Amino acid sequence: MCGIVGYIGNREAYPILIKGLQRLEYRGYDSAGVAMIDKNGSLNVFKKKGKVAELVAFAKENNTSGNIGVGHTRWATHGEPNDVNSHPHYSQSKNLVMIHNGIIENYAAIKENLIKRGHNFLSQTDTEVLVHLIEEIQLHEKCKLSVAVQTALNQIIGAYAIVVLDKNDPNVLVAAKKGSPMVIGIGEDDFFIASDASPIIEYTKNVVYLEDEQVASLRRGEQLKIRNLKDKEITPFIQELTLELESIEKGGYDHFMLKEIYEQPRSVLDSMRGRLNASTGEIKLGGVEDHRKKFEKAKRIIFVACGTSWHACLVGEYLFEEMGRIPVEVEYASEFRYRNPVIYEDDIVIAISQSGETADTLAAIELAKSKGALVLGICNVVGSTIARATHGGSYTHAGPEIGVASTKAFTAQITVLTLMALELAKVRGTLAESRFRQLLYEVEAIPTKIEEVLKLNDKIKEIAYQYKDSTNALYLGRGVSFPVALEGALKLKEISYIHAEGYPAAEMKHGPIALIDDEMPVFVIATKGANYEKVVSNIQEVKARKGKIIAVVTAGDKDVKKVADYAIEIPETDELLVPLVAVVPWQLLSYHIAVMRGCNVDQPRNLAKSVTVE
Ligand code: G6P
Repeated sequence: MCGIVGYIGNREAYPILIKGLQRLEYRGYDSAGVAMIDKNGSLNVFKKKGKVAELVAFAKENNTSGNIGVGHTRWATHGEPNDVNSHPHYSQSKNLVMIHNGIIENYAAIKENLIKRGHNFLSQTDTEVLVHLIEEIQLHEKCKLSVAVQTALNQIIGAYAIVVLDKNDPNVLVAAKKGSPMVIGIGEDDFFIASDASPIIEYTKNVVYLEDEQVASLRRGEQLKIRNLKDKEITPFIQELTLELESIEKGGYDHFMLKEIYEQPRSVLDSMRGRLNASTGEIKLGGVEDHRKKFEKAKRIIFVACGTSWHACLVGEYLFEEMGRIPVEVEYASEFRYRNPVIYEDDIVIAISQSGETADTLAAIELAKSKGALVLGICNVVGSTIARATHGGSYTHAGPEIGVASTKAFTAQITVLTLMALELAKVRGTLAESRFRQLLYEVEAIPTKIEEVLKLNDKIKEIAYQYKDSTNALYLGRGVSFPVALEGALKLKEISYIHAEGYPAAEMKHGPIALIDDEMPVFVIATKGANYEKVVSNIQEVKARKGKIIAVVTAGDKDVKKVADYAIEIPETDELLVPLVAVVPWQLLSYHIAVMRGCNVDQPRNLAKSVTVE
């Protein structure tokens, strides 16, 4: 949460900072701010509540020149989103400014002490407290800024990625991180710094991922210097970025979300590329292979995640139990971490996270590791904190997901889970060879089937038009389609602000049925399979109460089509793999409804893409 960006070199900093902030806006968009030091040594700060575009309008016609600067886009934690609480924050003398991503947990006690020593605070943020502390140490110890940063951070409890700019030394940016991500780009004669590589990619491919408790000095004309909080010098490990610029741009689509929905045939294929070969019956997933013995003996799998990734875990539960015959528990990371859960050394904990940064998921991982369990990750962002904190795992390789509402990451996560479950079944000998082979072919066919569903976009748009003014919606599914009902409801409420609930279809009778009237759309997955007849009965129960039925059905279906107000026919798919195909109509439907309601699809209110605070 919160995006940070910095530049030092010979170019104009402001355009680089603004473009970088626009790329990082998915991390938060309550307010934005920049600070630059111009050639006369003036430190100019502009900050504004609202989106980056509002900051640009505000700063227009002002002096934004300078070739050193920092920028920030905020997702509020301490203090409401307003101009004053926006970053950058000043130190007491106003010589230092700082941007921060994270939470300083012990800020209140430090603030109280600083107030006793005469400090005045303008904002309610924890960030302002830290920059005051850094300056106090700098002045008291008469030390370099980087040393003051080290000393201050040794007193801090919490998470941070910070960049500090000093008016008295306009040739250096000092950055540090713990728990929040930070990437440094190394140009020919300049440095870039950001929360992720997207603001850096068009300038350089050489990057250094700062590790926790490291302080970096980016000094003009010098090599990058890194020391840790114990003052040990660290040799920077320079890596080459594989990210491509096109993958973080809209590429002709109106919104990132739509682009990402349409990318799914490709992203699902990428998530299985080189891992599965149906004709030879091979499956190879490093994450499982490397821990084969553990998987053979494991008594239980525990999935932990948040949000959409948690829904993928629920699909994983069906897949792992059905194919690998192993008991599975699915946990909200935020509950698991505070519940003193029972974890055995022969448990395997699988954490799923698109961003690889979610604070609760990370804490759940640390807890599971401390109890001796093997912890694997399924992450999308390569090199992310969770990917590094786990003992192993598999990347989803879906490419950058920028729309705040997750779409292609979800289908890529389920693809990887399917491959893991198949490999698990192979290791444990729980699937007949013929069924194993059949499933491999079915998995390989998924991208083509998603392509077929995308062709239904116009019809789905028509349905969206019919229900765009609804105030409530119900999503139903059974078996492996139940998590898809949850995901469908989440997509709708996230981006269109229509209240929606996902339910197991049969459970509807125990409550939600009371909500049904002739205005209530009920979105049902009623594809062919073991539960088909049961779901048809549930649909009849809705119709008997005049509810509207919009059903996802298997191509050629007759029964549901007779009663449904709308039927969306998707290609026939193995029952276990239905979520990969059936979620797509719900993604498109939410997208169109949100657009028709005039909502900001890619940046829905109050949400952020990476939730790095608990
Ligand atoms: C936020 C995002 C969701 C995402 C969830 C978990 O709430 O808005 O789209 O599903 O975090 O994020 P993760 O990166 O761990 O999958």
